[in-house]
Amino acid sequence: MIETVHVPLGERAYDVRIGQGLIARAGAEIAPLLSRPRVWIVTEETVAGLHLAALQDGLRAGGVDSAALVLPPGEGTKSWPHLIRVVDWLLDERVERRDMVLAFGGGVIGDLVGFAAAILRRGVRFVQVPTSLLAQVDSSVGGKTGINTGHGKNLVGSFHQPSLVLADIDVLGTLTARDFRAGYGEVAKYGLLGDAGFFDWLEQNGPALAAGDAALRAEAVRRSVQMKADIVVRDETEQGDRALLNLGHTFGHALEAATGYSDRLLHGEGVAIGCALAFELSARLGLCSQEDPSRVRAHLAQMQMKRDLSDIEGELPDADGLLSLMGQDKKVVDGRLRFILARGIGDSFVTADVPGDAVKSVLAEALAMR
Ligand code: GLY
Repeated sequence: MIETVHVPLGERAYDVRIGQGLIARAGAEIAPLLSRPRVWIVTEETVAGLHLAALQDGLRAGGVDSAALVLPPGEGTKSWPHLIRVVDWLLDERVERRDMVLAFGGGVIGDLVGFAAAILRRGVRFVQVPTSLLAQVDSSVGGKTGINTGHGKNLVGSFHQPSLVLADIDVLGTLTARDFRAGYGEVAKYGLLGDAGFFDWLEQNGPALAAGDAALRAEAVRRSVQMKADIVVRDETEQGDRALLNLGHTFGHALEAATGYSDRLLHGEGVAIGCALAFELSARLGLCSQEDPSRVRAHLAQMQMKRDLSDIEGELPDADGLLSLMGQDKKVVDGRLRFILARGIGDSFVTADVPGDAVKSVLAEALAMR
């Protein structure tokens, strides 16, 4: 069964289609949006090796011709040199304003290609075909696009909504267990930030969906995407509520920076540890009960996920070092860090009113446990 979550953003509205077999029917899904029956796919080597032929077959079956650019895998691709490469390729291919570009891959490809589409000829349309769990539940929906620079992650970019998102649940079957679990960090985030019932559901069903149950996977993606769509519609350009989606990210981004955006810590792993720390900080400030951070950690443990700083191998900076890495976060306003804190599971809020000392002591204690 294929389900649709509609993202009602006026003239930028679009559907997120979720289910099995969507790549095989990509042509039928995309053809109605095209001004000519050809698309330009940008992907990366790992995804191309596993799924590019199937996508091109699926497009052809719907009467859609395609050309593909295959980039190296990994976070390093989300950078100025590869942005230039994508834009130059699309210009070489004479892609026009009314044409359609396909971002076929995980969050790196989605963010990079979405940004290239945003700036090419002042904006061409694009379809997200996310292949990682993280991209299906978070980065492919909502129109955030961009690249990393030497100063940090996602510091250059734009809001550019896709015209369609095709989240094929079958492709999740080729993810490594580690990549799947990292993406699951973002799924758990949705329950923690705004839906205690969904978090209960994840506690019941998380292990079975990690083991491969496609119906449960589709349900987890659908509920996550619906929550994201609701928040994006309320606050498309992150003037307020959308920052809730960054639960766990202020800590997580600092940990990613501290580990050099390397294999030592994947983004979703940083988010999972960051969620545990955000609940720890909330409990310390008396906002939620002491049991809540324990329950967050227990679920991450049940899912065999990283949840503590001791789960990160190698050296980490001290608490002051981590705090200064947080200062580069995009959520800094007038020099004050904005945090997403929680009054309980499923009840998060955005605040700039967090004493630096409390953050520092949560970090110092977490570091001391290593
Ligand atoms: N990943 C956070 C957002 O889309 O706002």
